Amino acid sequence: MTQAIRIHSYGGPDVLKWETVEVGDPASGQVRVRHTAVGLNFIDVYERTGLYAGALPSGLGREAAGVIEAIGPDVDDLKVGDRVAYTLSVAGSYSERRLAPADRLVKVPDFIDDRTAAAIMLKGLTARALLRRTYRVQPGDAILVHAAAGGVGLLMVQWAKRLGARVIAIVGSDSKAKLVKEHGADLVLLDTVDWVAAVRDYTNKQGVAVVYDSVGQATFMRSLDCLKPLGTLVTYGNASGPVAPFAPLELAKRGSLFVTRPILYHYISTRPELTEAAADLFDMVGKGAVRVHIGQTYALRDAAQAHRDLEARRTSGATILLP
Ligand SMILES: NC(=O)c1ccc[n+]([C@@H]2O[C@H](COP(=O)([O-])OP(=O)(O)OC[C@H]3O[C@@H](n4cnc5c(N)ncnc54)[C@H](OP(=O)(O)O)[C@@H]3O)[C@@H](O)[C@H]2O)c1
Repeated sequence: MTQAIRIHSYGGPDVLKWETVEVGDPASGQVRVRHTAVGLNFIDVYERTGLYAGALPSGLGREAAGVIEAIGPDVDDLKVGDRVAYTLSVAGSYSERRLAPADRLVKVPDFIDDRTAAAIMLKGLTARALLRRTYRVQPGDAILVHAAAGGVGLLMVQWAKRLGARVIAIVGSDSKAKLVKEHGADLVLLDTVDWVAAVRDYTNKQGVAVVYDSVGQATFMRSLDCLKPLGTLVTYGNASGPVAPFAPLELAKRGSLFVTRPILYHYISTRPELTEAAADLFDMVGKGAVRVHIGQTYALRDAAQAHRDLEARRTSGATILLP
């Protein structure tokens, strides 16, 4: 048995319930992980509200680090006591223990602590996929990052700088602006200003090569207005609500633009893709090119409060839930 956050209906943070649940022994190809740190992600909010609906009742959470405490049959490369971390497309990391497929776990190197590992498996791998594969950032590119002080955003700002980009960052408050500046952004704009005009001014009326937009509904059309001809809009989140349908002609009018709507799991679907991406991520963190800012922690059983703060834009950097 273990303690876990479960939801039995969709709704506000109050639907999160702290319960005793059965875990059981690992089946073939599985291990049982005892979590030491759990990552909070905006996708947890979508799953709680039903924007991304699955079967109920359900666990919640897709990112964690911990220690292996039991191994099922046919698992060769992991052993009891190994420090591991993961992001899984099946929710359930808001728990003290869970079963997980061994081929979706990575071993955590000694130079990365558990909280950092739990903060980067979903958020850091997303940052890497977006910058290295969705649109491959080139030295000298001007790029625009929304929600730049957030969990994914703050990692993206630093990684993009390392790639030689000129990073324009949009944030929701002065304190977040300061944080993003400290992490290397070239130009930081509050979301309350006319940021389309500011982006065009900063790029000598050219526009940026790529916009990374996780805000969604509230920013989508204005993000298109920030792009140079043949530029790419990467719409990868819905913090303000899902993007409304739009006419492809809007892309033609603004300069034959590209729009893509990526999901991390499609970029790490094979074991080699996962291990290569994780190794690159750990390397970037290990050498200090990307600093992982954990802005706040909560007890796992208080996850509802973490959700309230995330949705109210009160968090910065990554948030960790402690079992
Ligand atoms: N596609 C994928 O595979 C993938 C993977 C991971 C994450 N994501 C997406 O990436 C985004 C960031 O995720 P995260 O977990 O790191 O969250 P986060 O960025 O730490 O938190 C969301 C931030 O969005 C900003 N925001 C703007 N308008 C908002 C609104 N109406 N309501 C709430 N927040 C608003 C807030 O920053 P300001 O106050 O500075 O505006 C807030 O702090 C999310 O949209 C998430 O869905 C996508």
